[in-house]
Amino acid sequence: MKISIIQGDITKVKADAIVNAAGVGFGNAIGGGVAGAIRRGAGDELVKECQELTKTKYPHGLPTGEAVATKAYNLPAKIIIHTVGPRAYSDPNGLLIDCYENCLRIAEENKCKTIAFPAISTGAYGMSINTSAKVVRYILKNFKSPIIEEIILVLFKDGDKKVYDDIIIKKTDYEDALVNMDDMRFCRYCLATIGDVIPLNGDFWTCSEECSKNLLKKESKEIGDLISSKLKENKN
Ligand code: APR
Repeated sequence: MKISIIQGDITKVKADAIVNAAGVGFGNAIGGGVAGAIRRGAGDELVKECQELTKTKYPHGLPTGEAVATKAYNLPAKIIIHTVGPRAYSDPNGLLIDCYENCLRIAEENKCKTIAFPAISTGAYGMSINTSAKVVRYILKNFKSPIIEEIILVLFKDGDKKVYDDIIIKKTDYEDALVNMDDMRFCRYCLATIGDVIPLNGDFWTCSEECSKNLLKKESKEIGDLISSKLKENKN
């Protein structure tokens, strides 16, 4: 699979799917950011489709970490995949992983060969570009697809492309909270590496009982049971 890192405007990228860094009212963005550019580029038909989806499927808005596809209307892409990233200071940051995984799953379901991502959550939602790059590096390390041939990472601000090049291609270890991403020794719920992370299985580690419980609420029964038994083991 080809990985391209470019600087530019995602609405101009010719990919089968482009990802929208949306808010809960995912078609309604005005003003700056990716969502505003996508809304202006796609046109009013996009807003209508999003409003219809909100009425029928998401009466409380699109939940953080989830994703949904619409047509792309006046944009060169075939579809837009809308996902709501976590707000850095108030949401579980691990939901950023869900955003990428859900977008890739939907792209595959729609037989997209190419998908373009913006740096979700790194604008209005306040996530650092270093954290974003490390999450993307983790996603790319684990992702294999028989359908997707190219993932295009689109950076907008000066300097952001260099951070992506450094962390994703050159594998430079930038100093911040998210070390050991490649060893997967980070909390799947909050992304922190502080404390004693508990290995749950190949993919799931948590850093505290509170995060374990939160993860438990979010994940499937199978993972939930595994977390419960690990918590019990750690108490004994
Ligand atoms: N193409 C690619 N990237 C862009 C573009 C563009 N046209 N415009 C901005 N960006 C970059 C920003 O520089 C930032 O790095 O996309 C990244 C994400 O920024 P935001 O669009 O602000 O997205 P996010 O941080 O996820 O916040 C989402 O902002 O627009 C509102 O409705 C949206 O409430 C939601 C919130």
